Amino acid sequence: GHKREKVERLKLVMLDGVPFLDLTQLNWEKVKNFHSLPDDLLIASYPKAGTTWVQEIVDMVLNDGDVDKCKRAPVYDRIPFLEIVEPKPLPSGLDQIANLTPPRVIKTHLPFQLVPNSFWEQNCKAIYIARNGKDNLVSYYHFDLMNKEQPDPGTWEQYILKFLEGNVAWGSWFDHVKSWWTGKDKHRILFLFYEDIKENPKREICKLSQFLGKDLSKDILDRIVHYTSFEVMKKNPMANYSTIPTFLFDNKVSPFMRKGQVGNWKEHFTIAQNEIFDEYYHRNLADTSLTFRFQM
Ligand code: A3P
Repeated sequence: GHKREKVERLKLVMLDGVPFLDLTQLNWEKVKNFHSLPDDLLIASYPKAGTTWVQEIVDMVLNDGDVDKCKRAPVYDRIPFLEIVEPKPLPSGLDQIANLTPPRVIKTHLPFQLVPNSFWEQNCKAIYIARNGKDNLVSYYHFDLMNKEQPDPGTWEQYILKFLEGNVAWGSWFDHVKSWWTGKDKHRILFLFYEDIKENPKREICKLSQFLGKDLSKDILDRIVHYTSFEVMKKNPMANYSTIPTFLFDNKVSPFMRKGQVGNWKEHFTIAQNEIFDEYYHRNLADTSLTFRFQM
């Protein structure tokens, strides 16, 4: 049969004031009118904040640490991506969600104000994962180099400004983290930090299980910590995105599981670039109580 071997990089389009990959607009109305079920669980994040990590942790927690069960399918099929629209004939996020058996777990990168109302009307739980903006930026830059559907990131120097100005898919990192930080107090939302999980995975996984109403034994918790570590996930084809064909995700350019560190930004930012970032950071987060750790 016909095999696609090349894709065109997508362009950005503004939807309700936020830039998205242009294919997203095809399902935009349907996404806004999405019908949630009360036991739906949303995993939300800005791209490259550690979404896949939390997806794997959640699946392990919900399946009581059953490793084989969590290898039933690639993570992007186990926990579909609400607003994503892929080039035909690939299924959209909505197509995949329609095939899930409840209780459903759904991934989204939508900023808080664009999450379909139905989730809050149904009083659904959500987990938000946030990552310090410098590491998040470095990770997104490498992802845009390797993911042939993302807009071309340009040079590193150009990319920094694009990111700081919010001219990337899913918009401004600052707006995104702030939107969920404010939103978390109104609903059943667990707000997690990448740096905290890295620092003490057991503590954070325990917090997450309690949020989901799961009382797991010490043995199961230890097993989940082990199987969701960077080293083990990097080798797990059902978690590391190696099942995506290389014309889409070119892992020779940069693997999906790239470094998994806190502070890797220091190997990329010049002193001047760091000062520019800090200036945006202080200006944009001045009016919130939200703070990040850039190193540990
Ligand atoms: P790096 O590019 O800094 O390595 P997302 O899932 O939101 O796309 O985020 C991807 C980032 O999370 C990548 O960051 C990836 O390596 C990191 N990541 C994935 N699994 C991880 C794990 N188990 N521990 C630490 N970092 C992880």
